[in-house]
Amino acid sequence: MLVLLMVLLASLVAFGGDKVDPKVLERGYSIYKETCSMCHKERATLWEFLKARMSVLSGHRPENIDAPPMNLVSARVKEFYPTELEFVEFVKDYITNPSRSKGVCKPAAYTFFGTMPPIGQGMSDEDKEAVAKWLYYNYSDIWHDVFRRVKELQKKVESKKGSSS
Ligand code: HEC
Repeated sequence: MLVLLMVLLASLVAFGGDKVDPKVLERGYSIYKETCSMCHKERATLWEFLKARMSVLSGHRPENIDAPPMNLVSARVKEFYPTELEFVEFVKDYITNPSRSKGVCKPAAYTFFGTMPPIGQGMSDEDKEAVAKWLYYNYSDIWHDVFRRVKELQKKVESKKGSSS
């Protein structure tokens, strides 16, 4: 009985530690689907990222998307706000009062998509918190790593093109 109690206690401690409540993440995901997914895709593959990058480099708006995909948004914002606390604060504020000057996206995002609307103004604080935590914990992409890989892929594609023509 005592052992059982201790196991229970230990798992409670582990759960209450720095791990996030999975219910919050679930809620965050459904808020994402309802409120953010109309503009932000859940994920861009490296090829999709490359395609968008090539459009931007040639001065065109990327096709079929209205905002940067969320795995890239998450990685990019973490580059500037690495801890959960500052990340969540930033996202909650940004979606409520977005502006070009506080944003951390690449300049092309604002040029081709415009600044995002203050969608958070109609959301409860709890919902903003949940979606921000989901955005933080749902992705493990690291910005400079993804960016290095997309540039490598670009080089490969360009050298192939070069050799076939
Ligand atoms: C109407 C389209 C639209 C909707 C809906 C939308 N966004 Fe955005 N979002 C954008 C665009 C466009 C950008 C890139 C320009 C910018 O950062 O303002 C962006 C950028 C962002 C950024 C990066 C901010 C920066 O520039 O540093 C975050 C974080 C973000 N969105 C979160 C969200 C969340 C969370 C939701 C849902 C609650 C959401 N967005 C809903 C269009 C949208």
